[in-house]
Amino acid sequence: MPATCSRCRSAAAEVNLPYAKLRLCARCFKDFYTNRIRRTVEDFKMFRSDDRVGVAVSGGKDSMALLHGLKEAFPAAEFVALHVDLGIRGYSEHCREKVEELVEMLDVELEVFDLQRELGFSIDDFKDTLYRRKVCSACGTIKRHLFEVLAGRAKTRVLATGHNLDDVVSMMLNNFFNRNWSQLVRLKPVLEPLMPNQTFKVKPLIKTPEDEDLLYCLYSEIPFREENCPHAHVGRLRRNRETLEYLSKDNPNFKYQMLRTFLKLIPILEGHVEKPKLRKCEVCGYPSSSQICAFCRRVRIVKEARRTRNKGEPRL
Ligand code: AMP
Ligand code: FES
Ligand code: ZN
Repeated sequence: MPATCSRCRSAAAEVNLPYAKLRLCARCFKDFYTNRIRRTVEDFKMFRSDDRVGVAVSGGKDSMALLHGLKEAFPAAEFVALHVDLGIRGYSEHCREKVEELVEMLDVELEVFDLQRELGFSIDDFKDTLYRRKVCSACGTIKRHLFEVLAGRAKTRVLATGHNLDDVVSMMLNNFFNRNWSQLVRLKPVLEPLMPNQTFKVKPLIKTPEDEDLLYCLYSEIPFREENCPHAHVGRLRRNRETLEYLSKDNPNFKYQMLRTFLKLIPILEGHVEKPKLRKCEVCGYPSSSQICAFCRRVRIVKEARRTRNKGEPRL
């Protein structure tokens, strides 16, 4: 006989959550999922229940589940979906369609930054630059900057991203092994703005295991992207994730224990990590540790590569 749900005691259990010692039916799982989002937001004081909040939505399962879950958990708040169309051939169009489908379904405002249309290049163009082997890292810098631009356009003080428990713990491990303390500190649940007028960056899924984002999408019929980014590659982060899975096999609480330890460590580290001296980027005016910020430097490089390529191409 199938087990019954540990919460409602009536429906058949479909989801096993060993770290919580629960077996839940689909309905109770969805409640469990959205309640955890609500508690995380409240415990870390991410925003008020009637705030206007920007949600960075990529089209992937995590951020799509986040937007849906936040709407369920905070019906009085106003959410704006923020999407960066990266112009990646065979991928970005698909992501954008899924995001448009979800905002329509949830009746949520959408603000899009279209890289190709607004800046005249796409992430694919980094293939022709010194970033050819590190397209993802260049893309990360571009996205982080554009999230701020989008939040400014949408007039939101808070920016929520879909980083989940697995993402955060594996990035923490990575930064720990590389002794990159300043980056480790930046993984905290609420990251204060570097300068006034910038956003508070919050991670409402910091306590949510990645596989539960997928389950929540499936149970709630949330559309999400089925394509993978052509520039994604298996890196060290992936290997750290595999180590994490291995260590979690005998101890389902392992990732939570790691998270708790890191969260305790962060305030101690913060006292020791030197804050970068910031000034305004000479090109865009955003905070930067050098004369020209990382975003503007990459934009310059990619535009130069495009110009050189176009000059070399025969005119048709
Ligand atoms: P990633 O760094 O690709 O793992 O993404 C981490 C988080 O950044 C996602 O959960 C989203 O909240 C946000 N994000 C990533 N890509 C985009 C995008 N193209 N547009 C909007 N948000 C994004
Ligand atoms: Fe940025 Fe793949 S989404 S390189
Ligand atoms: Zn700049």
